[in-house]
Amino acid sequence: MKKTIILKVNSEEPEPEKIKAAAEVIRRGGLVAFPTETVYGLGADALNQKAVEGIYIAKNRPFDNPIIVHVADRNIVSKLSERVPESAERLMSLFWPGPLTLILKASKIVPKLTTGGLETIAIRMPDSKIALALIRESGVPVAAPSANLAGRPSPTRAEHVHQDLDGRIDMILDGGQTRVGVESTVLDLTTDPPQILRPGGVSFEELRRVLDIVELHPVALAFEGSHLAEARSPGMRHRHYAPRAKLIVVEGELNASIRKIRELTDYYKGVGMRVGVLSTDESMHSYSADSVKSLGSREDLTKVARNLFKMLREFDEEDVDVIIAEGVPEKGLGLAVMNRLRKASGYNIIRVD
Ligand code: TXA
Ligand code: MG
Repeated sequence: MKKTIILKVNSEEPEPEKIKAAAEVIRRGGLVAFPTETVYGLGADALNQKAVEGIYIAKNRPFDNPIIVHVADRNIVSKLSERVPESAERLMSLFWPGPLTLILKASKIVPKLTTGGLETIAIRMPDSKIALALIRESGVPVAAPSANLAGRPSPTRAEHVHQDLDGRIDMILDGGQTRVGVESTVLDLTTDPPQILRPGGVSFEELRRVLDIVELHPVALAFEGSHLAEARSPGMRHRHYAPRAKLIVVEGELNASIRKIRELTDYYKGVGMRVGVLSTDESMHSYSADSVKSLGSREDLTKVARNLFKMLREFDEEDVDVIIAEGVPEKGLGLAVMNRLRKASGYNIIRVD
């Protein structure tokens, strides 16, 4: 067991001495969890194979699931990648710092462990003062997957990181709740046309506005069986985001969904299970389960995304046996929300129309 040090850091004006202490840990090959605008990341020196190995071990992450490399300076990208297409330059200008990860051809300096053995590398510049200060002060690109145990919901608060990784990592920088709440969009620029491998903080609609053509890879939609289809990243086949409770997703027209969720609630209560319903402001008063939570309004999918992982963890704390989640429209951040819900349910999806 390691002693995990927790430092509270001001997210607007990160205290230099705290950033220095964290950067020192990264430089000597240690592990630091830090906030980004999406979720907390578990950082290590991306060019130090031994340090990156530590990430996989701390998270129990399968070694074939590649890790995103975080940078604070666009000039590093041409050192990490052999080929930076013009489209990448344009996307970096428009969306960085921000929740867009670009897949490019990797250069020789990147350890195989960082890329999960692939020829490609995932790179992004996070939009968080703490994250950017830490990367700059470390002086190295920082490999960082989400700072949860593999398979659990991603952490949007330092407390979530602590729950999963206390004693397994060196330090947690606590910068409060993250703003976006779901991970970055992963866009593969090594294919023609470019493909979204994971929907996230930058929406499909936004990318469509600036790229001539952009496709959604089947794994991005996370429909039944899509994870078994050819996946660009082997890591995409692994189960993700799951709460401990059984999770069922009900999708389709809202009133039909409400009827189905009420029916399921009655059934599971009848067999003595504690039932949680994950709903929206418009529907939450239609349910009488043991715990009913609202992600926010169906008109504000940005807020829905921000609350998703936090609420999945809350149900676990309330010892709910089964969570029934209502689907939301797949526009804007709704696409990322539905991708996470479907995967978290292990594709336990009921369509009502
Ligand atoms: O918002 C985020 O992206 C957060 C914060 C911490 O930056 N990070 C994050 O990392 O979500 P992680 O490891 O939980 O998810 C990385 C995703 C995985 O689905 C992985 O398979 C994919 O990116 N990925 C990484 N490198 C890849 C590559 N070379 N080719 C294809 N997919 C890749
Ligand atoms: Mg993750």
